Amino acid sequence: MIKNIQKETPNASRKRSTQDLLNACDRNLPPLHRKVYIESYGCQMNFSDSEIISAIMEKQGFTLTSSCSEADLIFINTCAIRDKAEQTIRNRLLDFNQQKIKHPDLIIGVLGCMAERLKIQLLEEEKVVDIVAGPDAYRDLPRLIHQVDQGYKAVNTFLSKEETYADIEPVRLNSNGVTAFISIMRGCNNMCSFCIVPFTRGRERSRDPHSIVEEAKKLFDKGYKEITLLGQNVDSYNWTPTNATATTVIHNNQTVHFAKLLAMVADIDPSFRVRFSTSHPKDITDEVLYTIKAYDNICKHIHLPVQSGNSRILKLMNRTYDRAWYIQKIDAIRTILGPSCAISSDMISGFCSETEEEHTDTLTLMDYVKYDFSFMFYYSERPGTLAARKYPDDVSEEIKRRRLSEIIAKQREHGLFRNQQHLHQVQQVLIEKDSRKSPDFFQGRNSQNKIVVFPKGIHQVGSYVDVHITNCNAATLFGEVC
Ligand code: SAH
Ligand code: SF4
Ligand code: F3S
Repeated sequence: MIKNIQKETPNASRKRSTQDLLNACDRNLPPLHRKVYIESYGCQMNFSDSEIISAIMEKQGFTLTSSCSEADLIFINTCAIRDKAEQTIRNRLLDFNQQKIKHPDLIIGVLGCMAERLKIQLLEEEKVVDIVAGPDAYRDLPRLIHQVDQGYKAVNTFLSKEETYADIEPVRLNSNGVTAFISIMRGCNNMCSFCIVPFTRGRERSRDPHSIVEEAKKLFDKGYKEITLLGQNVDSYNWTPTNATATTVIHNNQTVHFAKLLAMVADIDPSFRVRFSTSHPKDITDEVLYTIKAYDNICKHIHLPVQSGNSRILKLMNRTYDRAWYIQKIDAIRTILGPSCAISSDMISGFCSETEEEHTDTLTLMDYVKYDFSFMFYYSERPGTLAARKYPDDVSEEIKRRRLSEIIAKQREHGLFRNQQHLHQVQQVLIEKDSRKSPDFFQGRNSQNKIVVFPKGIHQVGSYVDVHITNCNAATLFGEVC
């Protein structure tokens, strides 16, 4: 669905298109320097998309800028997961509105999940916006910009069944040169009743494994030491040669599932660390666990969001597993990978009709697992989701917040408990950057994804060091290089 809306006052000064820009460059005329500023919100996949958008824009001759005040074009790559995320973006648009009053030629584009959710409605609600583009429409951005140059507003919120941007080499933004993210799939086929993602990201599709391995190898050759494979549900990664092109059939016509993909990436080099997120309790297999065990360079950390510890609520959430199934998966992780594999989670408090006892089930499940860390939220009804259509949002905000604070307090206890298990141990740490608190200290992460802070000494960002852990709090380990 592509729609264009004529603006009331077409802006003549914008009538130079990106093609004019390229033509100007071709003819060796002074280039029209247009700068694009990209601001990203939401999950890691969205940040990863911003790197694809950057690559598309650079190819069109735009220069990336990290200063929004000097931009000719502002893209805000948005999240729609909770109402608060959308409010943050609306407030940000007010700031950009001020900037546009001073610079009427400024183009403002809203991209990503909020753009996909609200579509053309966003243009009506937020007059400052010129472009609305959903997550599968980024190849179309040059054309959309051209339309705005012609004096129109432009929208593309078409969701694709095939787009994976596999051939686009992302421009790494805010990179430390050590760690990077690679999207291995897009969309989600699960219909968790609370979740907007299937509506904003469309059908699940897996990216060609050949292009994933190539991208990882390039990063390794550039000196990167760690990659994180990203998907809403990595365990359902499934690529079959039927979606391959002639040049990409490299796996003896075999289907590549997630365990195989993990092994293919881990085989690049033993010093190249591999992480992944997010795992789904209904889909994670023992084969994946055995693959993690078989490779020292596959990090020992699994993000396995539970959402609730109560089976009735899990059913209402349409998570398709119950408490007993989840516990069985935790037991399998502990049996196959041992107690030192970190496990983290996402939790939602106050989902529709949740009782006090059902909330307590979440707390007791937490006691059973003792998560290393968690992302914790209270339920935010999202228009159009199954829950919004079927179940009243009947837990008061006060109760949602109180339950959330109990979950957070428990998580803090468990985070501290898990971190204390590392005390007096020697941990291999990949140095990522200066510590936030002091330029005399580095911070890096161990295999379990724990942040480790230690004095710099003679070491360098991007190297592995063995750190003797001497202290910790619920969030961080502290130590000294041995
Ligand atoms: N694909 C991942 C989750 C992606 S969204 C998975 O299945 O685990 C990240 C997290 O946001 C979810 O795990 C959930 O805890 C939270 N979330 C999603 N929708 C929400 C909503 N409507 N209200 C509150 N939290 C929500
Ligand atoms: Fe949302 Fe569920 Fe898909 Fe995760 S698995 S993105 S929570 S629908
Ligand atoms: Fe991610 Fe938010 Fe979209 S969590 S998939 S950016 S709704």
